[in-house]
Amino acid sequence: MDKVPSADDSLKELLGRVQECQLCELGKTRTNTVLGSGRADARLMFVGEAPGYHEDQQGVPFVGQAGKLLDKLLGRIGLTRDEVYVANVLKCRPPDNRDPQALEIETCRPYLEEQISIIKPLVVCTLGNFSTKLLSGKPDGISRIHGRPQEMPGHQGIALFPVYHPAAALYTPSNMKALEADFDLLPALLGQPLPQPLVEPSSSEPDFVVETAEGQAEPEQLDLF
Ligand code: URA
Repeated sequence: MDKVPSADDSLKELLGRVQECQLCELGKTRTNTVLGSGRADARLMFVGEAPGYHEDQQGVPFVGQAGKLLDKLLGRIGLTRDEVYVANVLKCRPPDNRDPQALEIETCRPYLEEQISIIKPLVVCTLGNFSTKLLSGKPDGISRIHGRPQEMPGHQGIALFPVYHPAAALYTPSNMKALEADFDLLPALLGQPLPQPLVEPSSSEPDFVVETAEGQAEPEQLDLF
């Protein structure tokens, strides 16, 4: 009888296909594809928007300033990057960090759906508007629906939990407060107690300045709010 492939094996096989992908124009301009990183059996999965400059260079999601904030938010709830899985709606960087286009999102969607089906997390935490609208199947904007779990169409038993994109919180202190408060709800959703004591809430000043490796301001990934 054929052996059932492990989640790790299935992700490796998917990685091979994504690395070869030329289904949309982004295949021509990317440096590296960025499938995702973390545990193949994670209970918590994050879905952002698309790789930016640093992610495209390294082939790893959320390694820039937004990623540093994601690490800090995970620390708040007693988790590290190794314990979760992080992916994006798009697996290739849009030139100049422009918004993902509808055709790119639809073309790339099967890869994300496959990742979710392989990992089977308890909770998919969508970061910002693009992943939230895609996976909820609804047009509701993140500022209206963040912090409230909902069912995810097509993935029975997996909760969808929309929060602001970390990049949006870096630019707007009130979004940072909301993002921290929403993260604090995650342990209960995952069925585990909040770590004690809670990390001090951050000041209202953003801790990070978004810069490219060359020290120039990186074009903002828009439509995050
Ligand atoms: N923003 C995203 O949405 N994804 C990344 O990987 C990095 C920044």
